[in-house]
Amino acid sequence: MQAFLKGGTSGPSKDKAVSSDSSSSSKAKIIPWVEKYRPKTVEDVAHQDEVVAVLKKSLEGSDLPNLLFYGPPGTGKTSTILAAARQLFGPELYRERVLELNASDERGISVIREKVKKFAQLTAGRARPDGKPCPPFKIIVLDEADSMTKDAQSALRRTMERETKTTRFCLICNYVSRIIEPITSRCAKFRFKPLDDDILTSRLKAICEGEGVDIDDKAVATVLKSSEGDMRKAIMFLQSASRLCGKDSTVSSDIILDIAGVVPGERLEQLIATCSSDSYEDLDVAIREVIMDGFAASQVLSQLHDNIVINESLSDKQKSIICEKMAEVDKSLMDGADEYLQLMALFSTIMTQICHGN
Ligand SMILES: Nc1ncnc2c1ncn2[C@@H]1O[C@H](COP(=O)(O)OP(=O)(O)OP(=O)(O)O)[C@@H](O)[C@H]1O
Ligand SMILES: [Mg+2]
Repeated sequence: MQAFLKGGTSGPSKDKAVSSDSSSSSKAKIIPWVEKYRPKTVEDVAHQDEVVAVLKKSLEGSDLPNLLFYGPPGTGKTSTILAAARQLFGPELYRERVLELNASDERGISVIREKVKKFAQLTAGRARPDGKPCPPFKIIVLDEADSMTKDAQSALRRTMERETKTTRFCLICNYVSRIIEPITSRCAKFRFKPLDDDILTSRLKAICEGEGVDIDDKAVATVLKSSEGDMRKAIMFLQSASRLCGKDSTVSSDIILDIAGVVPGERLEQLIATCSSDSYEDLDVAIREVIMDGFAASQVLSQLHDNIVINESLSDKQKSIICEKMAEVDKSLMDGADEYLQLMALFSTIMTQICHGN
């Protein structure tokens, strides 16, 4: 990890990273691989066929509906709309025609009323400075829309309807249930699916080739397993690992496991075995050790879930009680609860189920 942090200005990818960025000056600029390999056109977006088909049609001149993209992280939502906007308007008009607001911007009701409304009301012409035709509308991208308040979302309803002549909205979120119904019904909804292993493998291999990274098949399999269809995570693991390894060595599975913070299988088994001892003191020691070793409680939880679901020594009733507790612990962790206390609560439930449940 240290090497990764220090390696900001060196590494095998330096020359290529610079050459692929046309705007870079002689000053060497290292671009994170997730940015460098972000799809530049909608055709580059893998695995999301429906939305790509709709956007391609609008690139050919047909109208574009208001859009709502939702799905897990790292599946191409932001990249898709940015690529489409760039293709529609070209680099010169892009700034004029696209308003991008994400969770880091203030998006309370006042901003929706003023900034968004004002931008939506501007008219838009049909031609680009380079003479090519372009659609007579602007696009407002509201990224991470699930973090917008309900009031702000409500304020959008009327604006969305009134400005359809000049503006299209693209809302992007992870959790579609947090978007109010009147908004979802005004948009064409597209679910972005987690990328499957074949696509991830081919993309990762292409990146490795482009960057001159040597990686063995087992390591690729480990990246796939630890990234769970999230391409951003997969690319980040790959870049961190290649920095850590240095120029001439092969990226191995162990390095990926180390970077991903995966809890080793034996360690997890050991924790479950401790639960069978019915000793609260032993459990306390084991959990403190896991936390001291730097494993994240959320990682323990997700791996434990996979383990519990297929565990044959537990009955269905025991599994359901444990899974219900996992859901509670997951929510508490997301809300910022103490990791030690949450793991203790979870493993105490498992201990009770193993030793006294039926
Ligand atoms: N479908 C895809 N095709 C090609 N590359 C992808 C795809 N999905 C993700 N990527 C890669 O992952 C990176 C992150 O993608 P992006 O920012 O679009 O994810 P996102 O869906 O907006 O995630 P979040 O919900 O976290 O905002 C991109 O830079 C790109 O390299
Ligand atoms: Mg995004």
